[in-house]
Amino acid sequence: MSLGRSSVLERGYILWGSAGHAKVLASLIGELGARVIALFDNDDQAIASLPDVPLYIGKAGFEEWLAVSGDGPGTYGLVAIGGARGPDRLMLQGFLQSNGIRIEPLVHPRAFVCRTAKLGPGTQVLAQAVVAAGSRLGAACIVNHSASVDHECLLADGVHVAPGATLCGCVSVGRNAMVGAGSVVLPRITIGENAIVGAGAVVTRNVPAGAVVKGKPG
Ligand SMILES: CC(C)(COP(=O)(O)OP(=O)(O)OC[C@H]1O[C@@H](n2cnc3c(N)ncnc32)[C@H](O)[C@@H]1OP(=O)(O)O)[C@@H](O)C(=O)NCCC(=O)NCCS
Repeated sequence: MSLGRSSVLERGYILWGSAGHAKVLASLIGELGARVIALFDNDDQAIASLPDVPLYIGKAGFEEWLAVSGDGPGTYGLVAIGGARGPDRLMLQGFLQSNGIRIEPLVHPRAFVCRTAKLGPGTQVLAQAVVAAGSRLGAACIVNHSASVDHECLLADGVHVAPGATLCGCVSVGRNAMVGAGSVVLPRITIGENAIVGAGAVVTRNVPAGAVVKGKPG
């Protein structure tokens, strides 16, 4: 499932999103020997965050890139938007796919993804992260730096497991939920869709859809 170093050499990626997470993905892509060839953002106040990489604004900018770059369908792409913005990641990833952009999982060479784990398209596993045996992650998920998704977890589309968070075994996380930095989710817990687990929380009970939970019991 992880992308071998040789398979991505010389590959050019486009990224939708030009802020901090774009810098993270550009670094990862560079580690793999590939490069970012264009940035896109919906915010017309966005600034080009990568030296020598052109920034295009919105869908009109995407059309412009298609016209001027000579690239297009078949180019690799990712959505570079972090935080609790799974819906944006999924919507923009769908836009790119519908325009023929190739969306695959991206795994840092110093992350560990067990060969029995499955990653959906556009899912990103960053440096020092772990995805253990039998876990299944949907599309456009982020397993951020040093986060751990232990055995047999189920992550729906658009989930973000923030830096240093730990999902113990058999945890289930609903669509677009975010598990905050440094939190710990105990085994077999279910986190509902669109829920947010606060940074540093210890989650000992199931979390309803849309809920925000924080702190530690007792
Ligand atoms: C829990 C969280 C969602 C709450 O956000 P919010 O509703 O905007 O909360 P506020 O900043 O308005 O703070 C409200 C109160 O909760 C407290 N609080 C905020 N986050 C907390 C947390 N993680 N744990 C404990 N208390 C927290 C604040 O101190 C404040 O307390 P007060 O009312 O006594 O002053 C957010 O703080 C958080 O932890 N998000 C996760 C961030 C993260 O991990 N990002 C990863 C990016 S890669």
